[in-house]
Amino acid sequence: MTDLMKAVVLTRFGGVDAFELRDVPVAEVGPRQVRVRVHATAVNPLDFQIRRGDYADQVPLPAIIGHDISGVVEETGSHVTEFRAGDEVYYTPRIFGGPGSYAEQHVADVDLVGRKPRNLSHLEAASLTLVGGTVWESLVTRARLTVGETILVHGGAGGVGTIAIQVAKAMGARVLTTAKTADHEFVRSLGADETIDYTTDYVEAVARTTGGQGVDVVYDTIGGDALTRSPLTLADAGRVVSIVDLAQPQNLIAAWDKNAAYHFVFTRQNRGKLDALTALVERGLVKPVIGATLPLDRLAEAHEISENRRAHGIRGKVAIEVA
Ligand SMILES: NC(=O)c1ccc[n+]([C@@H]2O[C@H](COP(=O)([O-])OP(=O)(O)OC[C@H]3O[C@@H](n4cnc5c(N)ncnc54)[C@H](OP(=O)(O)O)[C@@H]3O)[C@@H](O)[C@H]2O)c1
Repeated sequence: MTDLMKAVVLTRFGGVDAFELRDVPVAEVGPRQVRVRVHATAVNPLDFQIRRGDYADQVPLPAIIGHDISGVVEETGSHVTEFRAGDEVYYTPRIFGGPGSYAEQHVADVDLVGRKPRNLSHLEAASLTLVGGTVWESLVTRARLTVGETILVHGGAGGVGTIAIQVAKAMGARVLTTAKTADHEFVRSLGADETIDYTTDYVEAVARTTGGQGVDVVYDTIGGDALTRSPLTLADAGRVVSIVDLAQPQNLIAAWDKNAAYHFVFTRQNRGKLDALTALVERGLVKPVIGATLPLDRLAEAHEISENRRAHGIRGKVAIEVA
């Protein structure tokens, strides 16, 4: 008889009432897969973008979505040597590649799975996988930020921004970040050296703060104006990394004048990035930020909070307790 688990299923594209808590079969474990008891997950903007139907072609319904897992291995496939039952792990399920994390159990390719940092709870670890992996790929692999460089992080109080500030500091960079004024003390507590109110002109603020030198790297987690005017904040031959795939055309003409290099990142899943993050976390250099925690059966509410985070005063992530 097939085992059943509770899962929150997306039944149609739409509002937060499109989710249903259901009993669904637990997937079989393949030779290079592990089955994980999910203890915690978290909400990402990608989740509510999928729920609304922004990626309807990539997500057949009904679907279990969700992109962060922290939990415990319960079963390993016949060709798995990296983990055994009882190991604590964290990872992002393959995006657009099968069932996600809003469930009591998850079966994953072992190559995606990393050992959970020992000094984090499951809720904290689950809050790190997608945003941390994205930041690693953006700042380390793509921008190749180096010691002594200056970076502008757009959206420093967000899920990605809170980790980007900490990783950039750990890499030895000077960090400027945009956030609303009420969040300035908070982003400084994460390591930001300079704060810019995002309702003011950030181009002018960067020029003032850097004495006209500009920054070496811009990290765009917002899109639109944060992408198109960012070249105006760059030093010559600076780099811009953008993670926001806005559908509207965006004019990058200002980049020519700066001989800028652009990197567009859609995060990929692998263990290597998680192992690097685990090292930073266990050395006390990076700590996930959780703004709210709800149980799995209140996922609809968690989406509403995450989607309207400004009204709820959320910093960092909305985490979900599963078991
Ligand atoms: N390509 C990829 O692989 C990838 C991976 C992860 C995320 N993303 C995308 O990256 C974006 C950010 O993700 P996230 O998880 O950080 O989202 P999030 O947790 O919702 O945070 C967004 C942050 O941006 C701030 N913000 C809003 N408008 C701003 C502005 N004009 N200037 C500066 N900051 C502003 C918000 O501040 P308030 O709270 O004050 O509104 C909030 O702190 C999303 O669009 C997401 O889909 C892409």
